[in-house]
Amino acid sequence: MQTTFRRPPRLALIPLLLAAVSLHAAADPLAPTARWSAYTAGRAATPPMGWSSWNAFGTDIDEAKILGSAQRIADSGLAARGYRYINIDDGWAARRQMPDGRLVIRAERFPSSVQGGGTSFRPLTDKLHAMGLKAGIYSDLGRNTCSQAYSGVDTDLPKGSVLEREIGLYGHIDQDINLFFGDWGFDFIKVDGCGLRAYGANSAKVRSGQYRALTPVLDLESVSRSDIPAVQAEFTQINAALKRNKPDGDFLLSLCIWGAADVRAWGKNYGNLSRTSDDITPSWSRLLSNFDSAARRELYGHPGGWNDPDMLYIGKGDFDADHLVEAKSHFALWAMLNAPLMLGADLRTMPQPLMDIVGNADIIAVNQDPAGNQAVLAYDADDLEILVKPLASGQKAVAIFNRGLAPIDVDLTAEHLKLRGDAPVTLTDLWTKADSTFTKETKLRVMPRETRIFRANGERALAQGVYLSEQPGSVNPAVDGVVRPQIDPTIFRSSFGWTGTKGPGERPMYAGWGGARADSTPYGQVMQIAGTPYAAGIGILVNSRLEVRNQGYRRLSAQVGVDDSAQDRKHDVIFMIYGDGKLLAKSKPLRWGQTAQALSADVAGVRMVELVARSAAGTNEHLPVSWGNAALFSSER
Ligand code: GLA
Repeated sequence: MQTTFRRPPRLALIPLLLAAVSLHAAADPLAPTARWSAYTAGRAATPPMGWSSWNAFGTDIDEAKILGSAQRIADSGLAARGYRYINIDDGWAARRQMPDGRLVIRAERFPSSVQGGGTSFRPLTDKLHAMGLKAGIYSDLGRNTCSQAYSGVDTDLPKGSVLEREIGLYGHIDQDINLFFGDWGFDFIKVDGCGLRAYGANSAKVRSGQYRALTPVLDLESVSRSDIPAVQAEFTQINAALKRNKPDGDFLLSLCIWGAADVRAWGKNYGNLSRTSDDITPSWSRLLSNFDSAARRELYGHPGGWNDPDMLYIGKGDFDADHLVEAKSHFALWAMLNAPLMLGADLRTMPQPLMDIVGNADIIAVNQDPAGNQAVLAYDADDLEILVKPLASGQKAVAIFNRGLAPIDVDLTAEHLKLRGDAPVTLTDLWTKADSTFTKETKLRVMPRETRIFRANGERALAQGVYLSEQPGSVNPAVDGVVRPQIDPTIFRSSFGWTGTKGPGERPMYAGWGGARADSTPYGQVMQIAGTPYAAGIGILVNSRLEVRNQGYRRLSAQVGVDDSAQDRKHDVIFMIYGDGKLLAKSKPLRWGQTAQALSADVAGVRMVELVARSAAGTNEHLPVSWGNAALFSSER
């Protein structure tokens, strides 16, 4: 049958056409938005500091243990140095009460919670607040938590029917967030992911009849088996529930999906902290893994959302009072990475030398620096790394990390620090407080597993300006050009020990390879365009958009081009600079082997600069491009 329809009058088509055009524009991820798209809700202007029950006690927690550590934090002066969050991790829940679904606390472990026939954490959070501290709670994206999935014994686990054991957020997001933040007065929530990982229909837990099946959308070993949008959708609901139930914005949301599902690329858009790896253990090799999982993600952490290589393990195993070199390294490295400084020891018995390490005010100040720049790797090798963290004062913190087994004589140069080589540089040792001065370069001996950490004061190499790679806290790879997440091969693969050495070992598993980098191509090489190397700049893949906060600078310039490391020699790339959504500068189409083009734009008065590298053909993927020497200047020329 033939259908006839009347042609709408021409004018009536215009709004339809306009709608189609703007829909198209909204769908183009490279279109400028004039806004900062990373997460800024909550209270994470600097990395949170505090204590968590997990590393010290696992699920064997009680009120006395938690308050004991809180008391030591208050009495020892650590609270005054910034340690404020006292976080209850897994193990607090007795069950979900039916039929109303209200969560019930383990009353025998938390006697103060018993109130008129029910339980409430309000007395405990009131007490912590009265001590000047903040309180944190733990839950899971799924119906059940990690201890329910992985504990060998059920002593500390919720009991009752299948539904009563379902203490995770799944299906109860609004109810639980309201309970935690409204009724109970918490200020922080850690959301784990085992409920979306370990309860497949064939898992032993589900087959036991005690747990309901939930399709595993998170797979730590395989990014391709993870359902990334499904995981993100859960966090979107949690974001909305926090907004509704904590309207004053005084909260922190900690994402705990251990670097799975490519979260190292997108965690910054959904929470204040995002775990970049599996759990830390008190072993040196595990520290290396967790450090590596965050160390090359310097552009993915900013004020508001930080990379989280997991809590501190100072006080146990390789980081106990017999291993002060390792304990100091752990602390200095976490400070440089802008990691949360979450103590994980039983502080009631923590020896004073370890208390002194975590109380080092100069190193805490490096971590809490308001500019929020994660350290950038200025020297990168398997056994030695030099990390440089630009501070708000214009000084730099520098850490020299010997990962290996032999002492190393290190040449630290003014160049590593992006300071002038013809002017004196003063180094202040943040452990001994001793000052020393050098010009051009200096030699330092670094012992095995030692991290030497200094504040450096000198004349900036770039007069009147700042390289974008000197302010990673203000540069957000909103779109980093990674189309198909690839596994990052640079992360140390420590033998975990939980399963012994049965099985195939620790294979590379964290996605993020090819992500945007400061002073490096996305694949870790020195940036180079048509034979000219660039020690400074931003390396990223094509079809990318960087958001850059502009704090009063007047000009942005860069040498742009396809990086020599690209294998695609055929396709053109166009580079664009936008200011508050308006196109300010555009390159000609550039392809492999062509000399860099100088691109420059007047950004006076502009708040958000966006740097877009777009494939002219619209097709080529994973092609490294370089914004060589990209910098902001305070003068117009
Ligand atoms: C996971 C997390 C840990 C801890 C435990 C609790 O393993 O990564 O940090 O919260 O769950 O069971």
